[in-house]
Amino acid sequence: MTPHNQAKKGEIAKTVLMPGDPLRAKFIAETYLENPKCFNTVRNMLGYTGTFEGREISVMGSGMGMPSIGIYSYELYHFYDVEAIIRIGSAGGIADHVKLRDVVIGMGACTDSNYAAQYRLPGTFAPTADFGLLEKAVSLARAQGVPFHVGNLISSDLFYGDYADSLTDWKKMGVLAVEMEAAALYMNAARCGKKALAMATVSDLPLTGEATTPEERQTTFTQMMEIALRLA
Ligand code: ADE
Repeated sequence: MTPHNQAKKGEIAKTVLMPGDPLRAKFIAETYLENPKCFNTVRNMLGYTGTFEGREISVMGSGMGMPSIGIYSYELYHFYDVEAIIRIGSAGGIADHVKLRDVVIGMGACTDSNYAAQYRLPGTFAPTADFGLLEKAVSLARAQGVPFHVGNLISSDLFYGDYADSLTDWKKMGVLAVEMEAAALYMNAARCGKKALAMATVSDLPLTGEATTPEERQTTFTQMMEIALRLA
């Protein structure tokens, strides 16, 4: 048990899918997993373990932002012996070729957060995905015919930032999309010697103001979730 997770050791699978929204975790567990068992209700950050196509898998909410996913993913890796965490989230597309409803797979994650300062490195750390998970996600996305892009994300501390051009600056560096969690997840995985991958469906285009409807978000989320379930 931890201050944020009441699961006992052994109740969480080696691979955990992490949507931001705990109700999404409940939906995935109830829709896709056989014999789902809820292992956490602390702060309503719901987590479940069940099986998918015969393999044990867990799904748990991460909350929003790097501090939140930082806590939950650290605890999963460090105290529950989780080997791989796959974030399945949403993102704002910023590169011109990234369209609404596409899937973006984070090969790397830039950040404007100070999360890496804790490691006291003599330079700048480049948070990256696990290559094996990345490779598998790409072949599953191809096989499913899902429109996807692989590249850099920007994990921002700000949803409502005061400096309007910050996303244009990241766009100039070839960054595909903005979200708020991947960099912390990749750093925790690196520090714990574990694996991580962050995928997101494009729910909005902050530079043009376009956005998907809730129904569209559900459909595209389902496609990405099916990739993630098969990655485990
Ligand atoms: N997640 C989805 N859309 C986003 C945006 N525009 N900024 C940050 N995180 C997001």
